[in-house]
Amino acid sequence: MDRIAIVGGARLHGEIPISGAKNSAIKLMTASLLTEEPLHLTNMPRLADTRFLGTLLTRLGAIVDEREGPAGSETILHTPEIVSSFAPYDLVRQMRASFNVLGPLIARTGQAKVSLPGGCTIGARPVDLHLKALETLGAQIDLHEGYVYAQAPRGLKGAEIEFPFVSVGATEHAMLTAVLAKGETVLKNAACEPEIVDLADCLNKMGARVEGAGTPVIRITGVARLSGAKHAVITDRIEAGTYAVAAAMAGGEVRLTNTRADLIEALLLKIEEAGAGVERTNDGVIIRRNGARLKAVDIDTGVYPGFATDLQAQFMALMTLAEGESVIREHIFENRFMHAPELARLGADITVSGGEARVRGVEYLEGAQVMATDLRASVSLVIAGLAARGETVVGRVYHLDRGFERLEEKLGACGANVRRIKGDAGPETED
Ligand code: UD1
Repeated sequence: MDRIAIVGGARLHGEIPISGAKNSAIKLMTASLLTEEPLHLTNMPRLADTRFLGTLLTRLGAIVDEREGPAGSETILHTPEIVSSFAPYDLVRQMRASFNVLGPLIARTGQAKVSLPGGCTIGARPVDLHLKALETLGAQIDLHEGYVYAQAPRGLKGAEIEFPFVSVGATEHAMLTAVLAKGETVLKNAACEPEIVDLADCLNKMGARVEGAGTPVIRITGVARLSGAKHAVITDRIEAGTYAVAAAMAGGEVRLTNTRADLIEALLLKIEEAGAGVERTNDGVIIRRNGARLKAVDIDTGVYPGFATDLQAQFMALMTLAEGESVIREHIFENRFMHAPELARLGADITVSGGEARVRGVEYLEGAQVMATDLRASVSLVIAGLAARGETVVGRVYHLDRGFERLEEKLGACGANVRRIKGDAGPETED
């Protein structure tokens, strides 16, 4: 298994181009199952997660063609025919969001057998809202031995679905399923994340009729068939936010490009409140910090446009060196503080109690060997390492490779001392 070694202390100066959003790309790839024509995605990130999903889609009948275009990586997905409606456990467990093939498979073939994704390290993460939505749209669902057996012998029918609480995945799954259902579907209490808007834009280019994405009420008028389309994946706001925090942690001046400051406004306000400089630009944001110590600020994670849970671990790393005490409350996922004990190995002073972590800023962190526990947690350890004295070695970086493209290269280009230590081929499977 590879590890990442960081020698702390270097200030960052330079530019980091932000990639296409992992969390959008994987839903857009799934949308390709809805048509027998090619879906051409540009601004594609190249990540372990997109590779896992590519393997699953190929198994179902897709031809996945990855290429380098003039403006970056592109993927063309073409599924002339669904050759199998079976998504096995081995593939679904590698990446939870692959569960979202269920709805499109039912929509296209009338039946599917898809493994339940199983638990993962950041909480129970059930899929009850997904299944309820599909049932409301007319699917008959049976669960046996870890698999969902779904059928819609009489086809899918538009319906009103009111989610009891906001779920990004369930909103996307319902959209992906309802676009080919007969009649109108109304999703209430829908997630408003930018990736939902991106999915709706792409589906509409394919001929779907989706209105209201980005608001809590989404209306979908079903169509008989969808066509191919060309679509650029939205910028990765979590990657942008991560490097914004990294720059604030290490100090210096970093320009993030190919992104949008408005998508990470909740984070930028907190970075400013802590005392770093933030300049919003036409194609991203510039983060500046001179030698002055940051101040502790509190955060509460929330649904968009609130503070993203996927940036919580990174912000906690930033607060380990701030002056004073920061209270970090996690409202989206239970058990999402697994990075706290690892940060403590570097000398951080953190107390976790339920959904709340208290971080008392220390004078310095000291490099140590630490272990990545999930995708976003792993990058928080890299961020801490950027400002720690000496060398930090982060193990299990396959977590990191799931969601961050060329991380060492991007940070290295700004002067960070980060290198990958190649190891044996280890398991690439997890949440
Ligand atoms: C997506 C993102 C993830 C992000 C999260 C919240 C992807 C691939 N992942 O995850 O990076 O952290 O949104 O912004 O896009 N829940 C249920 N039942 C369900 C579905 C969800 O109880 O059927 C719960 C979850 O356990 C969690 C909460 O709802 O506590 C929100 O989860 P959800 O918004 O669905 O997150 P994901 O779509 O899994």
